[in-house]
Amino acid sequence: MVSRLVSVLILLVFCGHELASAEKPWWQTASFYQIYPRSFKDSDGDGVGDLNGVTSVLPYLKEIGIAATWLSPFLESPMADFGYDISNFTAVDPLFGTMEDFDRMVAKAKELDIKIILDFVPNHSSDECDWFIRSAARDPVYKDYYIWHPGKVVNGERQPPNNWVSVFYGSAWEWHEGRQEYYLHQFDKKQPDFNFRNPVVREAMNNVLRFWLDRGVDGFRIDAIYHAFEIEADENGDYPDEPVSGWSEDPQDYGYVRHIYTVDQWETPHLVYEWRQILKDYQAEHGGDERILMVETWSPIEIVMQYYGNETADGGQIPFNFQMISNLGYDSDAYHYSEMINLWFEHMPAGRTPNWVIGNHDKNRVGSRFGTERIDLFNILLLTLPGCSITYNGEEIGMTDVWISWEETVDPQACNNEQDGYEWRSRDPARTPFQWSDAANAGFTTGRSTWLPISADYKRLNVKRERGVALSHLNIFKELQKLRQLATFQDGDAEVKALNKNVLGVKRSLRGNHTYITLLNIFGNIENFNLHEHFANLSAEFEYVLITDRSIKHKGDKVSASSVTLMPHESVVLKSTKRQ
Ligand code: GLC
Ligand code: MG
Repeated sequence: MVSRLVSVLILLVFCGHELASAEKPWWQTASFYQIYPRSFKDSDGDGVGDLNGVTSVLPYLKEIGIAATWLSPFLESPMADFGYDISNFTAVDPLFGTMEDFDRMVAKAKELDIKIILDFVPNHSSDECDWFIRSAARDPVYKDYYIWHPGKVVNGERQPPNNWVSVFYGSAWEWHEGRQEYYLHQFDKKQPDFNFRNPVVREAMNNVLRFWLDRGVDGFRIDAIYHAFEIEADENGDYPDEPVSGWSEDPQDYGYVRHIYTVDQWETPHLVYEWRQILKDYQAEHGGDERILMVETWSPIEIVMQYYGNETADGGQIPFNFQMISNLGYDSDAYHYSEMINLWFEHMPAGRTPNWVIGNHDKNRVGSRFGTERIDLFNILLLTLPGCSITYNGEEIGMTDVWISWEETVDPQACNNEQDGYEWRSRDPARTPFQWSDAANAGFTTGRSTWLPISADYKRLNVKRERGVALSHLNIFKELQKLRQLATFQDGDAEVKALNKNVLGVKRSLRGNHTYITLLNIFGNIENFNLHEHFANLSAEFEYVLITDRSIKHKGDKVSASSVTLMPHESVVLKSTKRQ
């Protein structure tokens, strides 16, 4: 009894200090960071980032409050899709280093308490993968590892089996001279799709997971999962055409057909349930912290939700929330923002954790999509919402897209198509080298050249300089991470709403603690609000705890909740002066 009382008292004392309750899995309020290894840090001067480079800057991740990092692929690859075309799923590509380098990176990360998440690419391999070579040679074990079809003969001419189109333009079927059949590739022709209806393939991929778990990874980001299954072939071994969408005139264009047979087949989430079970079994056997799955699927929200799991099976802890990426644009107003955010809360099954993403290596930079005046706005939003935040490297220092000429463009999504319109297809502009300092090549490499050009902005936007500028993007990001540790942000409720069409508000509250209100002025007007009209149970007075370079107020300034003014594009976090 006495000890019970003591622990209650201890709990109260801790709450008084605004420490978060300890007993929840590490990932639930974690801040994640995506590293694009080609562009993060080069250690050997060849102009391409590598694992030793990553290891050398892991303390930076600590500095910016990152709990876990997922790295885009660094496995053996001919690099047709910059590592998303893997030729050996259990080997590090020499461009990025060796397995020993990988082990050192993991060891250093463990020492710093940073989790390492591997990019797992199950939908396809490289055509240079041994499995594909054997499959093409009809090796009995590998013959059905991929999706093969003899095609059809029309007027004496051989044609692909049907009208399926690749994401990267052109038919999704490629003729293989050796095997005298077509193989399916939903991405580049150097990325043949696996046949997930073959249990041997499933087991091979399961073993890939086990291999990397044994090497100490804390989880996986599952690439392009919604492409994993295609419709089952009919009794003649044929696959039906997809219906024409009417959105495009060009039959080679991915948008020409509606993808009802090549993505989002009902079996696909079950694959993820199977993998989650592997992670659980591994943990049960080997101990350690919970291993996690982050799931990439660009599906309707109802389908995305299935990847969380259901009553009988758990899925991935983090099915990426792409609502903001897919549905917000430069002109979106605050009602639109709040709708996109609340949509996730409304659909999310009970007991699951939300996550927030605004960029990655496939999308234009936030500052280029939404305007540089909104870079801090998105960092503030992502880091003050409940659950997991996921930041693409460079967004914390406000990197923007770099214009790259057609001649210098390397992304297959652009290069497989004609020059006309390449700028909006290319993903290169968001993949340029990370800006560490004002030294040559932004401190990314000691070499003379880099695989993609360095931003012309690097002398102004780099880690070294921004550390010394009070209200730089970087310092705002770091301040946010400190706020995030407070009990209200770790455990508190969230209410997200538009205060009018220009301003979004997020209220975070937790009984016995200070209430925090994030206000984001999306547009260029001066705004004034009585916060009591928008949020219930607010104390009379608030204090500025986070400001940006748009603010005329200072940190620590007090303000009455009945009259808060926002400057154009100003985003702030306010804290109630009383606990609630
Ligand atoms: C995912 C990756 C993308 C890659 C594609 C094929 O969407 O994010 O970069 O090109 O899958 O693997
Ligand atoms: Mg290198």
